[in-house]
Amino acid sequence: METELLKIYDLEEQIHEMERAAALIKGGEVVAFPTETVYGLGADGLSESAVRKIFKAKGRPQDNPLILHVDSIQMLKRLVRDIPKDAYKCMERFWPGPLTMLFRKSDLVPDIITAGLQTVAIRMPSHPIALELIKRAGTPIAAPSANISGRPSPTRASHVVQDMKGKIAMIIDGGETGVGLESTVLDLTEKVPMVLRPGGVTLEDLRDLLPEVVIDPGLGDRKEFTPKSPGQKYRHYAPKAEMILFSGDKERVVAAIMERARREGAQGKRVGLLVTEENRNRYPGENVVVMGSVRDKRTIAHGLFHAIRRLDELEIDIILCESVEEDQIGMAIMNRLLKAAGGNRINL
Ligand code: TXA
Ligand code: MG
Repeated sequence: METELLKIYDLEEQIHEMERAAALIKGGEVVAFPTETVYGLGADGLSESAVRKIFKAKGRPQDNPLILHVDSIQMLKRLVRDIPKDAYKCMERFWPGPLTMLFRKSDLVPDIITAGLQTVAIRMPSHPIALELIKRAGTPIAAPSANISGRPSPTRASHVVQDMKGKIAMIIDGGETGVGLESTVLDLTEKVPMVLRPGGVTLEDLRDLLPEVVIDPGLGDRKEFTPKSPGQKYRHYAPKAEMILFSGDKERVVAAIMERARREGAQGKRVGLLVTEENRNRYPGENVVVMGSVRDKRTIAHGLFHAIRRLDELEIDIILCESVEEDQIGMAIMNRLLKAAGGNRINL
């Protein structure tokens, strides 16, 4: 299939070009588009045959449900049985934006979206191109991250081209995404509000509104809990190389990474380092990729997936990676790093 690339420089100037993208969605095709978190792989969320094309293009397991993207509360209402009070509070504060919430689904939502679950995940993105696309298509857009299943999520159109060229009808290029990590997934359908995936809206932000909110115990290192969100059980965000995450005392981390790099290098391996801006100059060698600065961890969220794709291009055999503090957006960053490393972590 020929994949059309639509570059949007100025949405207002090019508003008529969005009509073509919307027509493709209405016609049951798949269109990749930017959101404020990562690029999404979109299709008409009410059409089973359109949604099936998303699963095929990504190579996504059928038991992993999708998020529906809406442009209004009116559109949301048709998709859910009820809207809890806490959900209204969260929508008021965080929508449009990087918060996905689970609702009890209405009959309108096809089973393929929810993988047979009785809940449906919904969010209203804030990216103007995403909102425009949903509005013009006049239907909720189902959209997982626009990567091949298991690969790092795309934060630039070029990443989507790498993974999806020839498999989908169109890629809308809206430049780099802002947040750089996916939305927070929040379950409000049980007694206690629970974060199933940390993301763009932080736990601290949520606590402000919902003091009793907890994190799904299945997200940590402990093997006796399984994550509630099906997507969290898969290896994800994964580079081609083996990856090891180093946590703990900062000085020891730098020393341990250097020592390990020396040992792996001596065995003829190509070693790549994934580090913070502040420590960049402490590491000798070429394949040192900066993920962002600890002084503002949002820069790390923004740059992380691009950095991992860079290391893939360098054809590294093993990646040694620094950790960040788990407060604020650091919790989502560490969740992605741990997954990218397949749980491979050394505590110092
Ligand atoms: O920021 C984002 O959320 C991006 C952009 C494109 O909006 N989308 C995204 O979609 O990250 P995806 O499919 O890559 O991740 C959706 C996550 C998966 O972990 C999935 O298992 C979970 O949400 N999820 C979806 N529906 C669910 C449900 N009903 N119950 C529990 N988890 C659900
Ligand atoms: Mg994803």
